[in-house]
Formats: sequence, C-alpha cells, structure tokens
Amino acid sequence: MKALVYHGPKRVSVDTVPDAKIEKMTDVVIKLTTTNICGSDLHMYEGRTDVEKGKILGHENLGEVVEVGKAVDTVKKGDKVVLPFNIGCGFCANCEKGLSGYCLTCADPKVMPGMAGAAYGFAGMGPYSGGQAQYLRVPYADYNCLQLPEDADKKENDYVMLSDIFPTGWHATRLANLQPGESIIIYGAGPVGLMAAMSARIQGASQIFVVDGQADRLALASEIGATPIHTKDGDIGDQIRELTHGLGADCGAECIGYQCSNSAGKEVPNLVMNSLVDSVKATGSLGIIGVFVPKDPGSDDKLAKVGQIAFDLGKFWFKGQKMGTGQCNVKAYNRRLAELIHHDKANPSMIISHELPLEKAPEAYKHFDNRDKGWTKVILKPNDA
Ligand SMILES: NC(=O)c1ccc[n+]([C@@H]2O[C@H](COP(=O)([O-])OP(=O)(O)OC[C@H]3O[C@@H](n4cnc5c(N)ncnc54)[C@H](O)[C@@H]3O)[C@@H](O)[C@H]2O)c1
Ligand SMILES: [Zn+2]
Ligand SMILES: [Zn+2]
Repeated sequence: MKALVYHGPKRVSVDTVPDAKIEKMTDVVIKLTTTNICGSDLHMYEGRTDVEKGKILGHENLGEVVEVGKAVDTVKKGDKVVLPFNIGCGFCANCEKGLSGYCLTCADPKVMPGMAGAAYGFAGMGPYSGGQAQYLRVPYADYNCLQLPEDADKKENDYVMLSDIFPTGWHATRLANLQPGESIIIYGAGPVGLMAAMSARIQGASQIFVVDGQADRLALASEIGATPIHTKDGDIGDQIRELTHGLGADCGAECIGYQCSNSAGKEVPNLVMNSLVDSVKATGSLGIIGVFVPKDPGSDDKLAKVGQIAFDLGKFWFKGQKMGTGQCNVKAYNRRLAELIHHDKANPSMIISHELPLEKAPEAYKHFDNRDKGWTKVILKPNDA
C-alpha cells in the first residue's frame, strides 16, 4: 500500500510499504477514505520530537471497514467509521473513567515511567502506524470505531473532524469550564483554536476572542462569530480588558503549544501561557490543549530544552485561577458531537482549505508548516483514483 513516511526533519515521502493487517483478533483494518494533516504532525515533521524514522504519520482517520478480526463483535465489513486519534482498550482503569487519551493497556511502557496513552502515527504514543495511508490497522475495534449515520458519505469532511480537532476544541472549552453567557479568549486560530471557537459558540458563549498573527485564519474566526484579536495590535491583556469592563475574559484556552512564537517569528515558549494568565479574569479557568513536551532538545531556549517554561505562577496563584491540560479524551465527546453534525448544528468542514490526493501530502506538509496564506486545514483522500 502507499503511505506517507517520516524520514527526518522536513523529509516525508509517499512510499510503498507492507499492507496494514489484522494482528490481534480484536482488530479491524480500514480502507482510508479521508485522513487529515494536523498541527500535531508538524511538531514531528519539524524534527521537534523523538518520532522514529520510517514511521507512517496520520492520526485523523476515517474510512470503510474491509477486514474484521474474529473477536470483533459490533463492527462489520462495509461500515463507515471515524477513529479517535487516541487508541484505547476500553477496560483499563483510565478508559473506564472516560480518560481514553490515557489508556494504560495501549501505552508504550518504554516511553517514560508514569506515562499513559496511545495514538496512531505519533511520537511517544506507542508503536502504531498512522493513517496517512491507504489502509490502517485499528486495535480494540469495538471500542475505537465510531460508526457513522446514513449521511456519512455526504458529510464525510465534517465527520472526519471528530477524529481530533472538533473534540479537542470542545475539550479546551470544557477544561476552561466555559458557562453559557460567559466570555472566552482562545489563543491560536489554527484548526484547533477555530474548533474551540465553534464549540464555544455552540455552548452559548457571550463573547469569543480569538488571538493569532495570521489574518487569513482570523477571518475564519470572524466567520464563526468570534472577535479576532491580531497579535500586532498591542498587548493582548490590555485589549481584552478594554472589551470586558477591565476584568479580563471569564476563561481562556491555549491552542498553540510549545512552539508559539512572537510577532517576529521567534519561538518564545512562555509567551502565550503568561499572556493567558494575564488576559483571563481572577478566578477564571484555563484549558491548555496546545502540546507541551517533557523535553525539547531542538529548542534554542535553555528551559524549554528540559521541558520547562518561566511561568507567571505568582500572578496565576494571586488570581486564583485553575488550569486543565493534556490530550483530549476523544471518546468522551465524539458520539455527541457526531449528533451535532448530523442535525446541522455544527459544520467543522468549513475550515478545510485543501482536499488533495495522498501523493500531494509532502507538498501539503511544506505549505502547512510554513503557515502559507490560505493553508488552514488539509485533508487527504488516499484511495481516490
Ligand atoms: N491536546 C490535544 O489532544 C491536541 C489535539 C490536537 C492538536 N493539539 C495541539 O494543538 C496545537 C494547535 O494545533 P493546530 O492544528 O491548530 O496547529 P497550527 O500550528 O495550525 O495552529 C497554531 C496557530 O497558532 C498561531 N500562533 C503561534 N504563535 C502565536 C502567538 N504567540 N499568539 C497567537 N497565535 C500564535 C499560529 O499562527 C497558528 O495559526 C498544537 O500544539 C497541536 O499539537 C493538541
Ligand atoms: Zn490531530
Ligand atoms: Zn485503556
């Protein structure tokens, strides 16, 4: 089969690799009909993780079931399914609690003591291949496959966003404890930040502020109903206080991660976290879903190399704020978010800028990584003729 393979920093190619196959009786194999490129892939693409060469990338996957393991009960050949980017077992202590992003059974025990969680095609998240390919092995298929309703084909480009960014954006608003009628500030107008804005709108936020330095992405935030805040227009905290009677936003979300940069394009790892503390009101909650890593040897910043930032803990503490972090537990949301798509209450496909065949993936990585104008979200169709 054809698959997008990582060969080193900024080097990916579409190669012929062995076909995905059933390895355990609880697996299925799907034929990918849509798979996305994600901002998380860029951390790997840029060589800023320890992902191994030869890895097939791709964790935002939707397709048709073509092979079914003997112990799979509810998933049948021909079913159209979307997969959470996390791989869970459904029966460990964390999966039982709904924390499917922290599965103990599927985690790679070699990574680090105390770590949990697994994902397709991801650094430090187990040996699983990704889905930027023609076929994909899905472990514990009964648990991981979300079967789609009869409009699966028609709304495929919406449903594929259930694999990651729509639930992740939603998760950011839940970690931020957004309540109807409250305001939220969202840092980052990438796909995840935009999905957080859409989630906040659906949940009845009174004001949604989205911060970024990319005008094309901020225009999408406006389309969703948010107030765009450009990083070039001065201090973010001052701008937000002016719009919120001097108090700051009721809550906030970080949707950028450890590679956030200043307006000159230089990475400043603590910039957004400290701005978030500053721009959210006293007692407000912060949802941090942008990725931060335990070590980042590729960073120029001394603290970041060992996974630390100079955080305004004093201001955070004095303001009595709370913080939630980590991978989204996609299973906790995807079934209900699918209903919102099915009943026309959410249209996450509105952020798609490019729909391409798998062969064009290396080119797409380059443009998306450069944050080239208009390259907001790329989806790939690996099995289209
Ligand atoms: N927690 C999870 O489960 C989860 C899931 C998916 C993605 N993520 C992470 O979420 C983050 C965002 O993903 P994405 O796909 O939207 O990525 P992206 O890289 O496309 O978007 C990030 C955006 O942040 C903007 N930005 C950079 N520095 C900024 C600053 N100082 N102020 C304001 N804006 C700034 C960029 O211009 C860009 O538009 C990534 O770190 C990704 O790995 C986490
Ligand atoms: Zn993703
Ligand atoms: Zn589990």
